[in-house]
Amino acid sequence: MFVLRKIYCRVFQKAFRAALPLLPYRKPKLLHSVREIPGVCRKWDVDSVMLVTDAGIRSMGLTEFLEKTLEENGISCCVYDRTVANPTIWNVEEARELYLEHGAQAIIAFGGGSSMDCAKAAGARIVKPNQSISQMKGLLKVHKRLPLLIAVPTTAGTGSETTLAAVITDSERHYKYPINDFSLIPLYAVLDYHETTGLPKHITATTGMDALTHAVEAYIGGSTTKETRAMAEEAVRLIHQYLKTAYDDGQNKAARKGMLKAAYCAGVAFTKSYVGYVHAVAHSLGGQYGTPHGLANAVLLPIVLRMYGSYCEKKLARLARNSGVVDEALGDAETAALFIDWIQEMNDSMGIPRRLAGIEQSDIRTMAKHADKEGNPLYPVPKLMNRKELEEIYYAVKE
Ligand SMILES: NC(=O)c1ccc[n+]([C@@H]2O[C@H](COP(=O)([O-])OP(=O)(O)OC[C@H]3O[C@@H](n4cnc5c(N)ncnc54)[C@H](O)[C@@H]3O)[C@@H](O)[C@H]2O)c1
Ligand SMILES: [Fe+2]
Repeated sequence: MFVLRKIYCRVFQKAFRAALPLLPYRKPKLLHSVREIPGVCRKWDVDSVMLVTDAGIRSMGLTEFLEKTLEENGISCCVYDRTVANPTIWNVEEARELYLEHGAQAIIAFGGGSSMDCAKAAGARIVKPNQSISQMKGLLKVHKRLPLLIAVPTTAGTGSETTLAAVITDSERHYKYPINDFSLIPLYAVLDYHETTGLPKHITATTGMDALTHAVEAYIGGSTTKETRAMAEEAVRLIHQYLKTAYDDGQNKAARKGMLKAAYCAGVAFTKSYVGYVHAVAHSLGGQYGTPHGLANAVLLPIVLRMYGSYCEKKLARLARNSGVVDEALGDAETAALFIDWIQEMNDSMGIPRRLAGIEQSDIRTMAKHADKEGNPLYPVPKLMNRKELEEIYYAVKE
C-alpha cells in the first residue's frame, strides 16, 4: 500500500480509537429463556410482534414454543421466515412490508446471524422509510432508534445479538456489506443453549470458527481496550475448551452453553474493536458466491494470519498464552505459529476444507475491490493491504 494511503488509514483508525470512550456502545439486556419474552413485551406495552427467522428453523419446529407462548399471552405474532443465508435486500424489504401490514410494534429475531441481521436491517428500514439499505452501508448512517428488538441466537457464532452490525447482500450486484450503527444493537438477547442443541455438525463447526475469527481479529487489531481483550481471551478459552466437544456431541449441555457464551464474548470484543481482512474477504465471497460466512472465515483465518506474519506475532502469542491454547514457555514467533497450527487442526478435525471451491479467477479483482472498500480505512488490521495485496488472499484460498 502507498505510504500516503497507509498514513490516512492509520490516522482514521487512531481517531476512532480515541473516540471509543465517547461513543454510545451498549450491551443488550441478557435473558435466559424465550419464556421471558412476553414479560418484556408487556413492559414495553407491545401486543403485536414480528418474528424474523428462516424456513429451515421454522420447519424444524424451533419457533413453535415461542409462537405458542406469545399467543397464550395475548400477543399477536406474524412470522417472516423467508430469510436466506447471507440475507438480501429483498428479504429486508419483505420483512418490513409484513411488519407494516401486521401493524407490529416490535421485532423478535430468531435464528443465526442471517435472521438476526435481516431483522436488524428491517428495523432500520421501518424507522427510515426514505433511506434505502444501500444508503445505510458503512458507518453510522441509521442514526435513529429501532422498534423494540429482541435477538434469540440459535447458532453460536456471529454474536449479532450484541453487535452494532447487520450484514446484507445486494443479490443483483453480488455485493455483501455491513451496516454499522449503535441503534442496531438489540435491546434484549436471549442466550438459551437449548436453541442450539439441534445444530448440525458442520454448522456447529463453521459458526464456532466464525466466533473464533471475531475474537482473533478483534485482538490483533490496533483498537483494543482492556475489556475487549479480556472478552476475546475468554471467547478463545471457551472455544478451545468446548467447540470440539459441541461438534462431537451436540447434546452436551456444558459445551453448547460454553459456545453460546463464547460467541457472545467474541461479539462484545469485535463490535468495539472491529474485525479485519478475514471478514472483508469472507463478505466478498458471500456476496459473489453465497459462500457460508463461517466456512469462509474458517478457511481464511489460518491463511491470513500466516500472511500477516511478524505483524501479528506478538499479540497472537499473548492471546494463545492468556487463553490457555499454548502453555509451553516459548518465544512469540513459536507461540503464534503453534496457535495458527491449532486453528488448522481444529478445522481439519471438524471436516472443514483447507481451500474454497468455486472461486473464479475472473471475479477476484472485483471481490478484492469490495474487500478493500470494506476493510480500508475502517479495520485496524496489523498489516495494511491494498487491492493488489488482497488479491493474493483469494489466490491462496482458491482450490
Ligand atoms: N451482525 C453481525 O455482527 C455478524 C457477525 C458475523 C456474521 N454475520 C452474518 O451472519 C450470517 C451468518 O449467520 P450464521 O453463521 O449464524 O448462519 P445462518 O443464520 O445463515 O444459518 C445457517 C444455517 O443454520 C440453520 N440453523 C440455524 N440455527 C439452527 C439450529 N439451532 N438448528 C438447526 N439449524 C439451524 C439455518 O436454518 C441455516 O440453514 C452471515 O450473513 C454473516 O455475514 C453477522
Ligand atoms: Fe463473522
